[in-house]
Amino acid sequence: MSSSRPVITTSSGCPVDDNQNSVTVSSTGPIAISDFALIDKLAHFDRERIPERVVHAKGAAAHGYFEVTNDITKYCKAKVFERVGKRTPVFLRFSTVGGERGSADTARDPRGFAVKFYTEEGNWDMVGNNTPVFFIRDPIKFPDFIHTQKRCPMTNIPNPDMFWDFLSLVPESIHQVTILFSDRGTPDGYRHMNGYSSHTFKFVNKDGEVSYVKMHFKTDQGIKNLTRQQAGTLAGGDPDYATRDLHDSIKNGQFPSWTMFVQVMPQREAATYKWNVFDITKVWPHGDYPLIPVGKLVLNRNPENYFQDTEQSAFSPAHLVPGIEASEDKMLQGRLFSYSDTHRHRLGANYDQIPVNSAWNCPRHDYNARDGPMCVNGNKGGSPNYEPNSVYGTPVQDKSFAMSSQAISGVVGRHPQVHPNSDFEQAGNLYRKVMTREDRDHLIDNIVSHLKNAKREIQERQVKVFARADAEYGQRVAQGLGLPSSVLYASAM
Ligand code: NDP
Ligand code: HEM
Repeated sequence: MSSSRPVITTSSGCPVDDNQNSVTVSSTGPIAISDFALIDKLAHFDRERIPERVVHAKGAAAHGYFEVTNDITKYCKAKVFERVGKRTPVFLRFSTVGGERGSADTARDPRGFAVKFYTEEGNWDMVGNNTPVFFIRDPIKFPDFIHTQKRCPMTNIPNPDMFWDFLSLVPESIHQVTILFSDRGTPDGYRHMNGYSSHTFKFVNKDGEVSYVKMHFKTDQGIKNLTRQQAGTLAGGDPDYATRDLHDSIKNGQFPSWTMFVQVMPQREAATYKWNVFDITKVWPHGDYPLIPVGKLVLNRNPENYFQDTEQSAFSPAHLVPGIEASEDKMLQGRLFSYSDTHRHRLGANYDQIPVNSAWNCPRHDYNARDGPMCVNGNKGGSPNYEPNSVYGTPVQDKSFAMSSQAISGVVGRHPQVHPNSDFEQAGNLYRKVMTREDRDHLIDNIVSHLKNAKREIQERQVKVFARADAEYGQRVAQGLGLPSSVLYASAM
């Protein structure tokens, strides 16, 4: 053994004489509890797993930067967009949604697209997906929806009845279901897909003017999808396909990039626009609100350690910065609570001290983040832990950072958002106008191969949902399932 190699130590730094043999009484045992080197090793091993994310558990990530290429300061005062050419460091985590931490990368699922921008006025997390819409539009439905995508509580096997039962009873899901069952539901790795904020956010400029915005990150590698058959083969043969593809391409100097665009709607137009701009099941057609280029997002550095950066990364749509605000969208409002809540459970109250999560590119002067488990940042030494205080040089509030204000009045209650007909229009447009003949063929085949495993009564209810988006769409799925077309018109939903 080379003498230039350091000596192994215990976690308390004590040199270890023998890392092959436990301390035992005689050569057979029993073990002596005084063997700290053994206990230290086993006890740490016993605690190596932290809870996996309740959704988006399987993922891969990389570091990089965002560079502004077009001036949007007339819409947004955020530092990140301050001038053309400005670069801000980022960390981007991609993920699948429903599967566990060891599940296959090529599963049919939306893909997460979560970007942390380390800006000079705090971390901004853009926690989006590769789809511009979502299945539901009220956060109270989210746990139910996710339960139906996970394993059956009785068998621990994914259950097509649960999956389609829920979706067929929540017809506002049709737009997202149509995207999910197109080949965009099985992207060819993470580099060949877009990212979307999906929700409407607010941009505020330096004069306090508010615009509603949707953000789009279009892949510069081009959209590339897998067929159902290719995705299935890879799930068995190379379940870490997308993780490997991202890592290898960066390692080989092929840095993937995305062009960021925004759709901008002046605030006054929202009330009269034909779609509810706070409904995440809807897009804004590009013809109404064109894509305005903003900048380039480039990934150029793999994490040195997966657990440290990727597993411990914690994104939240509530991590916003001056100039970028949440809209009234009730789904988004629910998300503002949920993420930091789960981080405190998954990583602990000081999750924001972990380097990948810390706001290291700006001064941090809060009074609240002290003490608690795993406090490793000096805990603000002897400075006051209360405010207001009269201690010279301590942080004070500054009203110039106030969020935009808005007058809202109304009755407090559980207001349903029911749009009986309009929920089907955009899905129908996607099917008829955007998809090619081949896209439609694959869509029908992808749906039939999955829905055929659900009970007949659920199949019948779901084909009526497809038919409301487009009559031919419903007919082709019914035909593929061997259902008579009369089921499409059997009774009103
Ligand atoms: P456009 O013709 O201007 O845009 C069509 C959009 O559809 C493009 O962004 C394209 O993305 C995307 N697209 C193409 N194939 C698929 C697919 N299989 N699944 C999902 N998206 C796909 O039309 P409109 O803006 O008027 O929108 C028409 C329909 O397009 C919408 O109802 C919606 O379903 C879909 N769409 C619209 C988006 C929007 O923000 N307006 C965003 C994404 C989809 P790409 O350029 O990456 O190929
Ligand atoms: C992850 C909740 C909707 C994108 C998560 C996590 C929770 C959650 C609890 C796990 C976070 C963690 O452990 O670190 C919710 C709720 C929603 C919702 C309650 C609806 C009310 C959405 C929507 C999108 C989205 C609409 C996209 C537009 C993501 C992404 C992640 C995630 C990308 C993974 C972040 C990462 O890489 O760590 N969500 N979610 N979620 N969610 Fe949501």
